[in-house]
Amino acid sequence: MTTTDSQPDAALALTFPAGFVWGAATASYQIEGAATEDGRGPSIWDTYSHTPGKILDGTTGDVATDHYHRVADDVALMADLGLAAYRFSIAWPRVVPSGSGAVNQAGLDFYSRLVDALLERSISPVATLYHWDLPQPLQDVGGWTNRDTAERFAEYATVVAGALGDRVSMFTTLNEPFCSAFLGYGAGVHAPGITDNASALAAAHHLLLAHGRGVAAIRATAPSAQASITLNPAHPRPATPSDADADAVRHVDAIANRVFLDPIRHGRYPADLLGDTRHITDWSFVHDGDLQTIAAPIDTLGVNYYRPSLVAAASADAPLWPGSDLAYELHEDGPRTAMDWVVVPETFTEVLLRLHRDYPGLPLVVTENGAAYDDVVDESGAIHDRDRIDYLRGHLAAVHSAIAQGADVRGYFVWTLLDNFEWSYGNSKRFGIVRVDYDTLQRTPKDSAAWYRKVIAANAVPA
Ligand code: FCB
Repeated sequence: MTTTDSQPDAALALTFPAGFVWGAATASYQIEGAATEDGRGPSIWDTYSHTPGKILDGTTGDVATDHYHRVADDVALMADLGLAAYRFSIAWPRVVPSGSGAVNQAGLDFYSRLVDALLERSISPVATLYHWDLPQPLQDVGGWTNRDTAERFAEYATVVAGALGDRVSMFTTLNEPFCSAFLGYGAGVHAPGITDNASALAAAHHLLLAHGRGVAAIRATAPSAQASITLNPAHPRPATPSDADADAVRHVDAIANRVFLDPIRHGRYPADLLGDTRHITDWSFVHDGDLQTIAAPIDTLGVNYYRPSLVAAASADAPLWPGSDLAYELHEDGPRTAMDWVVVPETFTEVLLRLHRDYPGLPLVVTENGAAYDDVVDESGAIHDRDRIDYLRGHLAAVHSAIAQGADVRGYFVWTLLDNFEWSYGNSKRFGIVRVDYDTLQRTPKDSAAWYRKVIAANAVPA
């Protein structure tokens, strides 16, 4: 078929299933600011970001985008985009400042007002309970290496579900426990900055236990809400066709993906993972009954995806895979974002189809996908972020292809609404579809925001 001017673009557009949910995602520490206001306690990210040398540009989340004071404006931006849903996270140290015990009503009220503002604009609130900001007092007694942290999480989940469960349509227990465990306690490049692989594996288990206990708390306290967890599946690809590199891929799949997916869906840890890590830990932190708790049924699986990974069994100059002493992650050639992340959109289709195939019966939601680029503001103040639009178009086409091949993907949340505090990169990496000027805190929608608005309105990616 040839195309002519008379054929509308719509004929070539990739249309998504009716009811597909379009959203945007953010996280508390990355946007809120107001770090010491209204009773909020310190989190591990306050401690980490205030530690000299930890954050690339020396910034912290003390002010971030000042979302705490600009909720009304930010919800108006969301409404203008036509978002059907907004995925945000709740700061545990705002709600339970010491991590256990006394509840800070002012913290709960902040989220309650946010939820009401969203509902007034017909935007469904999707609330993540833990996006990495652990109350510092819990870290002082071991953080996620301490089994008790899972119990504290369940108490906190009960408080939040009790306060918001009548209005929040979906709760997500954890965001990317891979990063909490393996970047936080293994590679040490995220808070709390510990470098000990045995601690990372214990943390992974206690995070999973917290998830299971959290699901139980949500079911008991907010029976009308859905319960989910968000993972960031790795897509390891072998550097060479050698058997050794194939085994490195298997190992990375075990320590990054199946370590979470198998307990959640099958109630067991993968045998090969236990073998691979035998010299690191004896796994005695797994108690009777834990796996049954972790395997509590969930309603959807959140999937965050940005890029594939090139892995090898041996390398002189590449870094080890986080948490592992068996596999290395190599630099891969190809187009890259400002994070130096390679752009290979079709790998997203493979990730979604693999989840659909190996963990069937679980609806998927893309809870994060997006890209940082070095945006340029032109003389008129506009940001023509064509590279970000290309990234989003490519990855949405990949999601569309996965759906066409049978994957049950129910929605897509762009990462992210606003430029924000990008963890150890500070304010130096911009992922937003809306620019934030860190001097004035003014918001300016980029071209990608206008493009995304059109996608949402059409329920389709334009040709
Ligand atoms: C994910 C995080 C999110 C953001 C993006 C770029 O790993 O969940 O907070 O930093 O990466």
